[in-house]
Amino acid sequence: MEPIIEVRNLTKVFLSRGRKITAVNDISFDVFKGEIFGMIGPNGAGKSTTFSMLTTLIKPTNGSIKVAGFDVEKEDDRIRPIIGIVPQKLSLYPDLTGRENLELMGKLYDVPKKLMEERIDYYLRLVDLEAHADRFTGGFSGGMKQRLSVICAVLHDPEIIFWDEPTTGLDPQTRQAIWRLAKKFNGEGKTLIFTTHYMEEADNLCDRVAVMNLGKMVALDEPASLKEKSGSANLEEAFIHLTGEEVRD
Ligand SMILES: Nc1ncnc2c1ncn2[C@@H]1O[C@H](COP(=O)(O)OP(=O)(O)OP(=O)(O)O)[C@@H](O)[C@H]1O
Ligand SMILES: [Mg+2]
Repeated sequence: MEPIIEVRNLTKVFLSRGRKITAVNDISFDVFKGEIFGMIGPNGAGKSTTFSMLTTLIKPTNGSIKVAGFDVEKEDDRIRPIIGIVPQKLSLYPDLTGRENLELMGKLYDVPKKLMEERIDYYLRLVDLEAHADRFTGGFSGGMKQRLSVICAVLHDPEIIFWDEPTTGLDPQTRQAIWRLAKKFNGEGKTLIFTTHYMEEADNLCDRVAVMNLGKMVALDEPASLKEKSGSANLEEAFIHLTGEEVRD
């Protein structure tokens, strides 16, 4: 297995009103090229903070990260073009239409105009948003925003997709549509890293799952092994066993 992301002794300490918060506490792991890698853990476990560091948005306090062999701090400009990010708090412009949001993203990533228009049309069809492309996104439903956001993230054809809570609050049908998309991207050879609070989703979708709790990575394995090692019938039980937490949405 070839690692595409290498994380070593990663730590992030925030200073908030004079208090130190260790959001990520000395974690090390690899993500392999072409896998679907899931991160689970209770609220505040450090999942999004880890994502922010992996995607060059915030600097680690300690430790190192390499993405496709590039150092996140010294070579962040080499990393940005090959990753796509769908953040937990979606960053669409509500006063722009769906298509305008996409065009803005395509321009930011320097996608050539003709290619960009082709991809926009293709993806809008793929996620069933063609009919809504010329509406302001401020009026979109949660599922529509999520689907549009992932197209924004893949317009420049990234190798790695970071998707923070893709299905939170979505209806079962839209969640399934998101899973199909994730599998499609992965089938094209893209590496996918996502977080979720839905254990069943992590179990079904992921090649490997990392369990985070209080800034630590308390386990990392294939879903079947996580269940087996903790003697659990399902991932939800394994999760409670590993974190001592109830599953929360
Ligand atoms: N910018 C910040 N300043 C101060 N503290 C922060 C900041 N960002 C995150 N934190 C704190 O770091 C910890 C980890 O937060 P993080 O958002 O990474 O958790 P999470 O696992 O993504 O949680 P959730 O499941 O709720 O999204 C929390 O205690 C949070 O309050
Ligand atoms: Mg989060």
